[in-house]
Amino acid sequence: MMAVRYELIKECKQSGARLGKLHTPHGVIETPIFMPVGTQATVKSMTPEELKEIKAQIILSNTYHLYLRPGHELIKEAGGLHKFMNWDRPILTDSGGFQVFSLNELREISEEGVTFRSHLDGSKHFLSPEKAVEIQNALGSDIMMAFDECPPYPCSYEYAKNSLERTIRWAKRCKEAHQRPKDQALFGIIQGGAFKDLRQKSVSEMIELDLPGYSIGGLSVGEPKEIMYEVLEYTTPLMPRDKPRYLMGVGSPDALIEGVIRGIDMFDCVLQTRIARNGTAMTSGGKVVIRNATYERDFSPLDPNCDCYTCKNYTRAYLRHLFKAKEILGPRLTSYHNLYFSLKLMENIRQAIKEDRLLDFKREFFSAYGYTK
Ligand code: GUN
Ligand code: ZN
Repeated sequence: MMAVRYELIKECKQSGARLGKLHTPHGVIETPIFMPVGTQATVKSMTPEELKEIKAQIILSNTYHLYLRPGHELIKEAGGLHKFMNWDRPILTDSGGFQVFSLNELREISEEGVTFRSHLDGSKHFLSPEKAVEIQNALGSDIMMAFDECPPYPCSYEYAKNSLERTIRWAKRCKEAHQRPKDQALFGIIQGGAFKDLRQKSVSEMIELDLPGYSIGGLSVGEPKEIMYEVLEYTTPLMPRDKPRYLMGVGSPDALIEGVIRGIDMFDCVLQTRIARNGTAMTSGGKVVIRNATYERDFSPLDPNCDCYTCKNYTRAYLRHLFKAKEILGPRLTSYHNLYFSLKLMENIRQAIKEDRLLDFKREFFSAYGYTK
């Protein structure tokens, strides 16, 4: 018995997008799904009750951050990450591979693993496939990610090739080190930069490990969106149909829709909560920068087509005031709305797949949002 099982319900006749269910030890997730990010065992400013109110089905957290603070042993002692943070639905943890590369300038990579200095206090640490698995076993996430190397963009063919080959060897070591395969699913990560043959090689070697799910990494790292869509177009058709496909670090509204159309089932992104904290909202009519003077006397809701708590109870003028006055309710209400908006978008996408009209949905959504294609 595997910890996680993907059930393909149907494919959209218009777009080929997949509708499915992901069965996990903490419940069933309807896919395609967006996962709010809770890097430090909290989705910034959102209580678990609020996350349930907006129908979040699964959240993501980070090995790297929790290992450095408060430490995975402390979380294990607390009864695991679910209990520690009072979240009883599924959790996916990223392996630390990506964070160690993006947050540390003074890291050293070897075949064994990565040595780095903590971004908190400068102390020296070592992460390896075995260590990343040990930490995630202690956290007890439903889905854990293999330890990978994510190359920057742009990068040379040689670099991308070496790093994807290392990522495969590291994934094997993760599988061998995994202590709880019955209640935690280990997902492999496809790398290979923007090189078609390398992505193909990465998939074919990764699927030999017969893991319960696979993600596509190394995207949304500064490349043009067209490149990302092209990589997805030649990568997802090679991935197993009966396993979930997760596109890491992607979550702008257009990329969610384009990703689903190209066969992706799961997404995560910090964008929703990050832009909320500086006062930017995603709305059915496009982005709203709430500090703008145009909203000073705008007594209409943030998004007239949204029925979230924020939009039902507050005006743009009030939200603008909160941000101008640096009140914490501003980021809180905007984060609530942005996450609601993205989860609602995924619900609408699932409904459109059910009704074989995802391309029509895309056209309508893009036109209202102000995207040009
Ligand atoms: N998050 C976004 N991209 C990546 C990636 O390539 N690898 C990992 N581990 N996490 C990511
Ligand atoms: Zn709203």
